[in-house]
This record gives sequence, C-alpha cells and structure tokens, in this order.
Amino acid sequence: KPALRVALLGCGVVGSQVVRLLGEQADDLAARIGAPLELAGVAVRRLGRRRDTEIDPALLTTDAEGLVTRDDVDIVVEVIGGIEPARSLILAAMSRGKSVVTANKALLAEDGATIHAAARENGADLYFEASVAGAIPLLRPLRESMAGDHVHRVLGIVNGTTNYILDKMDSTGASFTDALEEAQALGYAEADPTADVEGFDAAAKAAILAGIAFHSRVTAADVHREGITEITATDVASAKGMGYVIKLLAICARSDDGGSIGVRVHPAMIPRTHPLAGVREAYNAVFVEAQSAGRLMFYGAGAGGAPTASAVLGDIVAVARNRIAKTRGPEESTYADLKVHPMGDT
Ligand code: HSE
Repeated sequence: KPALRVALLGCGVVGSQVVRLLGEQADDLAARIGAPLELAGVAVRRLGRRRDTEIDPALLTTDAEGLVTRDDVDIVVEVIGGIEPARSLILAAMSRGKSVVTANKALLAEDGATIHAAARENGADLYFEASVAGAIPLLRPLRESMAGDHVHRVLGIVNGTTNYILDKMDSTGASFTDALEEAQALGYAEADPTADVEGFDAAAKAAILAGIAFHSRVTAADVHREGITEITATDVASAKGMGYVIKLLAICARSDDGGSIGVRVHPAMIPRTHPLAGVREAYNAVFVEAQSAGRLMFYGAGAGGAPTASAVLGDIVAVARNRIAKTRGPEESTYADLKVHPMGDT
C-alpha cells in the first residue's frame, strides 16, 4: 500500500515526541496500519530552534498553511495549541479532505462547534484523544465503549501541572512558585502557565468531557472556574493536619431530573483515604459514573511530551486505518439540548 503522509503542525514538547515515535516505531506502525506513515513536513514558528528530537531540516517549514494544503498530505496533526492559527489550519486541512488529529483543548472547548461542523460537512475524520488527560484513554471510551450507557457524572483531576504543584506543596512544603517552576521544567505546564494555575486548562477539558458524556454542547465559558493561585502553604498544611489534601477537581454532573448539567472546576479538600488523594505528581485520574457500568476510574500520566504523544500516535493510527478502510470515526453527538448551570445542583 502507498504511504500515508503526515503533516505535523507544531514541534514543542508534544510535537517533538510525535516525531521521535513516528521514526522509532515506523515498522510497527506500518504493520498495524497496513501501510507506512511518512512525515511530509513539520510546521514551526522558528527554524533555527533547538529541539528535543533531531529532525531532517528539509522537513521543517514556517509555512503551515502551505503544508496543510499540499496534495501529498493525508493526515494533519495539530499540536500548536491556542485558537489561531490552529483553527484556520484545521479548517483548511478538512476542506481539502485531510484527516485531522488534534490535542487542542482550548480550541475544542471554545469553538468545537465550528471544528465539528467542518468535519461533518467535509466528511473529514477528527480525533482528539490527547486534548484531555494526556496518555489516558478517556474520550474514546466515553464516545465509543460507553455509547450504550447513560453517564451521570464525570469527576476528577485533569490538570497535571496544578496536581504537581499541590502535591509538592503537600509532600515537601515547597512554595507555589518553586513547585510551578519544577512543573514547567518537566514539560507539564502550558506555554502560558496561567492557563494551568487559573484553571482555564482544566475548564476546557471539563467542557470537552461534559459535551461528550452528556451529548450536549458545552463551552469553556459555561464552566464555573476557580484556580489554585490563592492557595497558600498554610492552607495546604492545615488541610494536611485535618487529614485532607487539596486537589483541583473538575466536576461534570447531570441533574437528577436529567434536564440540565453543571460543570465546574475548583480546589477541593479530599480525605486522605479517598482514591483521588493518592494521585501524585502530574498524574490525572477521572471517575465516570454511569447507569449500567457503575463507577469507572481512569488513571495515568496526564501531561508531558511522551505520554501525550502516545495519545496522538493512537489517533494517527486510527485515522490512518480509517483512510485505508474508507471510513470515519464517530461524529460529534449533540442531540441533547441540556441547560448548563455552572455550579449544577450536585
Ligand atoms: N498543561 C497541561 C497539564 C498539559 O498540566 O495538565 C496537559 O494537557
């Protein structure tokens, strides 16, 4: 079978790991897909920068639009983040029949409607597992494995940076600033860590999760949001003294009558015996409560280059297999027009 050609947009913490894995696992990936994957180009902001993975300089370009519209590109992988130019590039790719893999939680939470509509109208494949909870398979289980169930609640820790900070403050007494610097050095934090510590990143992920879980449209603006910048070493220590740990939680809940949903992100005191209290460093953990399945727990690395790249690679394999089979993954399912009350009634 002819090779499937992949255009990568962005080559930061996640993108450079995607390049590494595409190279190191080329043979396995080809065997799993039934055709080889080839990197067609990598769009970056600056050509000369040092990167974590060595890349053939001939593949690098600053012309992202030129790259996504090239006829020899089949799959576009967007790991730039932010709204623009990511949105325009994804739309340009879809309008030319490319399959799209994105890790862009901010875009999907702010303007998922446009992206999903474009996928539908162009018959384009759209996968975004890496947008929520890094390596943890969560969106595909919710969209596919649990498609026959009725989800009541999705609750958990979906931001690695803030969990890392709160965990360091709790376990070592580190200051907020020192712990944040460590999280940045380890590649967990967003380019602008305000998105992490003010809860915007978790709110975007909560919006995506709530939309999928409740088959409704939820945007970041619908989410009640409080970050962790007001939490002091004293707060952490006194919670500890009382047998609690402070965690930043995302909570998406359907009301008892099923007619509305509440979506919120805020710090919470968790008893040290609760499973979420044991989620350390940049790990994430999400509980899904559904009518027939009962309570499920998803746990794993929620941030960082390689773990997030694992989810991106999984999506690349999925869209590649779909292209060969001339099929597509599931479309967005938003038949339920539920009212969103930021705090909910739970
Ligand atoms: N900054 C994010 C986090 C990266 O810390 O969870 C993963 O989305």
